[in-house]
Order: sequence, then C-alpha cells, then structure tokens
Amino acid sequence: MKVSASFLSSYNPALDLTKLNDTDVDYIHVDFMDGKFVSNKTMPFRQMKHIYEYTSKRLDVHLMVEKPMKWIPKFATLNTEFITIHIETSNVKESLDLIHSYAIRAGVCLKLETPIEELVPYLADIDYILLMGVEPGMGGQDFQEETITRLKELKKVLKQYKSKALIGIDGGINCENARKLKQADMLVAGYYITSSDDFQKQIDTLRV
Ligand code: DX5
Ligand code: ZN
Repeated sequence: MKVSASFLSSYNPALDLTKLNDTDVDYIHVDFMDGKFVSNKTMPFRQMKHIYEYTSKRLDVHLMVEKPMKWIPKFATLNTEFITIHIETSNVKESLDLIHSYAIRAGVCLKLETPIEELVPYLADIDYILLMGVEPGMGGQDFQEETITRLKELKKVLKQYKSKALIGIDGGINCENARKLKQADMLVAGYYITSSDDFQKQIDTLRV
C-alpha cells in the first residue's frame, strides 16, 4: 500500500514537511483550495510553491478548485507526479489533456455523493482515481464508512472497462479503516500522521 501524506492540518507545515522527508512516505499530498469549489482557501500558490525547500518527495496535487485549468500549469512547474482534479468541475477532459501535456499522471477525484459511473466517459484518460472519504474542504474529519462500498463498486467498474487506473482514498484515514481499504493502491492521510509524535510509526500502520 502506498501512502501519501497531507499537511493540510499542520500547524507548522515547514517543520512537518521536513519531518515527512525523513520517512519512507511515498508522496506529499498537496491540498489546494480556492474558496469557491470548497469554502476554505489554502495558502496562495506563490507561497505553496516553496514546498520544494522542505521536501524532495514527489507531489500528489489535489486541486479543489472551480477552474483547474488555471492552476494545472502552475503545479506542473513543481516536482509533481500526479495532478488530481474534481469530476464535479467543468472541462474535465480538457483538464486531463492539459495535465498529460506536462507528462504528469492525471487523476480525477469524486466527492462522497458523486456516482461512480460518472467516471466512465473519462476512463481512457485517467491514471488515478481518488475517492473522498470525507466532504472535501477540511482535514481531521471522520471517515465516512460508505466509502468502503464505493471502493468495491469502483473496482468492479474498472474491471468491466479494463481500466488500469490506480485508486486512492482521501480523508479520515487511520489504521482501523486502512484494513478495510486494502483494495486501494494508495491512502492519503493527514491528521492521523501529522498529529502524532512519530510520523514513521503511523505510516507503517497504514501499509497493510
Ligand atoms: C480534505 C483533503 C484531504 C485531507 C486529508 O479536503 O482533501 O486530503 O487533508 O486529511 P485527513 O487525513 O486529516 O482527513
Ligand atoms: Zn486531499
């Protein structure tokens, strides 16, 4: 199981990113919010881009923004492995093409209520599917158990359409629900890791 660490709930992102860099975490999950797609807003890109000063890990960027095409070129300048947009935005296909034009893996994220079938028209263009385990917008929320059923449903759809897309789960992840999410390829965890004294120990418990 791959693990991607979110620093959304960090009181001191610079320090936590430095500490994460000393762990074997696979990616740094960068949550970026515009205050429109979700009501919260994260630090501006001009500040966010300094992330490279604190980490040499590849980035897994989660764009919770109304207009992903405005932000994709900016995040493409960083050490980015994945850029994930929300399927609930407009111009999904164009955004996926734009991500691929930078040779970056393209992801699509689904909010809790969004039907899995909405992915079908885009499957040929998707490398990564991120299922939310909470309502997007905030770290430290409780995991919604229906995500476990949605993961099973998603696995079936991917099999049916012969898609090799990777699956990630984002929000409310801890060592208990991780055991029920073994069918996923990657778990994104924020609070569970950054609220602890021992980041590596927490990461180890998620690699089930
Ligand atoms: C929620 C974010 C998640 C979140 C994960 O909108 O997309 O990435 O920060 O953090 P935890 O693990 O604290 O839910
Ligand atoms: Zn996220």
